[in-house]
Amino acid sequence: MPATPVLELRNLNKSFGPVQVLYDVFFSAHAGEVTALVGDNGAGKSTLVKCIGGIHPIDSGDYFFDGKPVHVSSPRDAAALGVEIVYQDLALADNLDIVQNMFLGRERKRGLVLDEATMEEMAATTLTGLSVRTVHSVRQQVSSLSGGQRQTVAIAKAVLWNSKVVVLDEPTAALGVAQTQQVLELVRRLADKGLAVVLISHNLNDVFAVSDRISALYLGRMAAEVRTSDVTHAQVVELITAGRSGELGLVNGDGVNGAKA
Ligand SMILES: Nc1ncnc2c1ncn2[C@@H]1O[C@H](COP(=O)(O)OP(=O)(O)OP(=O)(O)O)[C@@H](O)[C@H]1O
Ligand SMILES: [Mg+2]
Repeated sequence: MPATPVLELRNLNKSFGPVQVLYDVFFSAHAGEVTALVGDNGAGKSTLVKCIGGIHPIDSGDYFFDGKPVHVSSPRDAAALGVEIVYQDLALADNLDIVQNMFLGRERKRGLVLDEATMEEMAATTLTGLSVRTVHSVRQQVSSLSGGQRQTVAIAKAVLWNSKVVVLDEPTAALGVAQTQQVLELVRRLADKGLAVVLISHNLNDVFAVSDRISALYLGRMAAEVRTSDVTHAQVVELITAGRSGELGLVNGDGVNGAKA
């Protein structure tokens, strides 16, 4: 019996004015697994993620968390459930240091003053717990970090808040080979710690290296949800570019016929 997904969306529809972007989308993420969300430019990946994160209200559909129906209509609702989204560019504030970023909007206070010592220790412990060794000081300004270190801090921030689901929208898009490797290892470690991780990526090598499942969006429709070990690169490329690959995918460009993972 498959376990209940931590996060599940059913029949999700989303339009911007007259333009429909998501059509009856099904999506799920499981504890201890990395689910890769793939699809061509404009397929609707970021929109789906913003619906998950409560940034965009959904038009219709059902949102389940731990198998129970929930209403998520703001980022606060999503955070309260333990859903954290790491957005590529908006993730961190440049002019603040690592500790300030990790506690932004949720600062710890002792009486009326900020409890800097505790925040510093929690930030450092979280980074160490994720085996992050390339960051020298948690008091370093984020503007002085490399792209990979920034992603690391953004991910550590999600972990600090005891998230159950972490969604990463193209975390390696701007990174070099070594940094990509570090971030992918971190992604894997998060899942191994029991979190449900959703990874959006255009790089199929990364997807195959780190994911347990693949969900492929095609023109706003979920073409297939498959186990990574059940498909080849070529099949995933077809799902992304045509919405279909052999028996897998959409029939007549409509209706889900994906092999359910
Ligand atoms: N706020 C918005 N208002 C109107 N249309 C939008 C808005 N956000 C996204 N769209 C449209 O929704 C569609 C899906 O966009 P989305 O950003 O979700 O794609 P994506 O799969 O993330 O693409 P990429 O791989 O390029 O990041 C696009 O046609 C886009 O123009
Ligand atoms: Mg996007």
